[in-house]
Amino acid sequence: MADQFDLVVIGSGPGGYVGAIRAAQLGMKVAVVEKWPSLGGTCLNIGCIPSKALLHASELFEEAGHGFKSLGIDIPAPVLNLPQMMNHKAEVVASNVGGVDYLFKKNKITVLRGTGSIPAAGRVLVTPQSGAPTEVQAKNIVIATGSVSANLPGIEIDEKTVVTSTGALTLEKVPGHLLVIGAGVIGLELGSVWLRLGAKVTVVEYLDRILPGMDSEVARQFQRMLQKQGMEFKLSSKVAGVDKQANGALQVRVEPSKGGEAEALDADVALVAIGRKPYTEGLGLEAAGVALDERGRVKVDHGFKTSVEGIYAIGDVIAGPMLAHKAEDEGIAIAEILAGQAGHVNYAAIPAVVYTNPEVASVGKTEDELKAEGVNYKIGKFPFTANGRAKAMQATQGFVKILADVETDRVLGGHIVGKNAGEMIHELVTLMEFSGAAEDLARTTHAHPTLSEAVREAALALGDGAIHI
Ligand code: FAD
Ligand code: NAI
Repeated sequence: MADQFDLVVIGSGPGGYVGAIRAAQLGMKVAVVEKWPSLGGTCLNIGCIPSKALLHASELFEEAGHGFKSLGIDIPAPVLNLPQMMNHKAEVVASNVGGVDYLFKKNKITVLRGTGSIPAAGRVLVTPQSGAPTEVQAKNIVIATGSVSANLPGIEIDEKTVVTSTGALTLEKVPGHLLVIGAGVIGLELGSVWLRLGAKVTVVEYLDRILPGMDSEVARQFQRMLQKQGMEFKLSSKVAGVDKQANGALQVRVEPSKGGEAEALDADVALVAIGRKPYTEGLGLEAAGVALDERGRVKVDHGFKTSVEGIYAIGDVIAGPMLAHKAEDEGIAIAEILAGQAGHVNYAAIPAVVYTNPEVASVGKTEDELKAEGVNYKIGKFPFTANGRAKAMQATQGFVKILADVETDRVLGGHIVGKNAGEMIHELVTLMEFSGAAEDLARTTHAHPTLSEAVREAALALGDGAIHI
């Protein structure tokens, strides 16, 4: 007889593995189906974790080259050892995916190696790379199969010279010229890595701005900072084609988004970073009767239930921001719901961070959204140039911007561009989770000297005024 589980999760990314752990903690017998050789999904293997390892190493390389002298640290120009930097990345990935193995063992979660498909509710077929498929029975099934890079029609990815983020994380040498298609999170993070390591980087963006979805004032100022670092932008432009030359170099045809004359740019590597799409291939969803929406995402209700009883979906494969922490929180919520608890995700307070230097961090509404919604809002801003610690750290670029309701003072959104913005954003996330007001934050003592004082000062600016400006 087929093995029986309370829950079978398909996919071991942040959504799947976190959901599986919480379900096991809540007493369920859990199995996870994974087709890749290691656990952890996109985020741990080819996403968040390896990209942050390279961002950290390349930032220090850049600082050692330019930032130390004025601090009184005289060192010879740093020399890049790219294979060792890649080893560092591989070790960080191995340690993180090994951590998931450990947690699965600790929580007695069964790993079923192979591609999972759903012949019908209650049944999961696992087809390994080699050998016969096996079937298991599942009271409940959670689809957590994530997403893959979106393609540009007519542009063939070889992951060597025309790459997605996966190839851009494993280049064997620093490209002379890296052409990035898409000024979103991947383009700017991985563009920053190779820029710091010595590449010329040109970013081609379809829209007239970078980082769509982020506050436009923040994006504008951030673009200037990146330009100062040497990153070049071609906004309102699209790539019409990428031709491979006989010598291996690329010729990229770029034309205005609205049409017009194309120009040819030479590049060594082109990174396609125009977004990601939900991944449902091979699951057999149509036969199982699981409905998708118009963008190929699995349709779910507020409790993550698909159109079929007993089948649920979470993470990148459903609607919402494609972020690891969003997937994780949905994993926890679905496990709690299946255990009869009130699992819940507050989509109004999900932070988003771009891990560049400086970092960009955001939570809640942007000013553009509040304007469009006709909300009566006020703005509190504070620049890092007026923050003592930032001066000591040579990190005076950027500012904090808090948006609050004029009548209630309730914080509606927070946006930070600056060093460590990705850490600082969390006090605004917590404040919003508690439906806090700007005055709550303004009256909270912050340790001195810290960068976080700028967050408090922005809140003070929403009341009687910031002190240090
Ligand atoms: P995934 O992590 O995509 O995992 C899906 C898993 O399902 C994979 O292991 C896949 O092999 C498996 N699978 C798929 N189909 C089947 C099947 N039929 N049978 C068995 N297994 C299957 N987000 C952040 O929040 N912060 C970041 O810093 C960040 N950086 C990123 C950097 C890059 C370069 C990329 C590409 C993404 C980044 N993301 C980041 C996004 C983040 O990786 C995703 O939001 C997150 O991984 C989604 O988790 P998930 O569990 O939904 O799916
Ligand atoms: P994205 O959606 O962030 O950005 C894609 C960009 O490409 C947009 O600016 C879009 O206007 C542009 N674009 C689309 N079509 C284009 C075309 N034909 N020509 C030129 N530009 C075009 O997508 P990205 O950067 O690929 O990342 C995918 C997702 O992965 C992100 O949305 C995010 O959810 C996740 N991610 C998160 C990270 C983080 O949290 N730090 C890091 C990396 C990825």
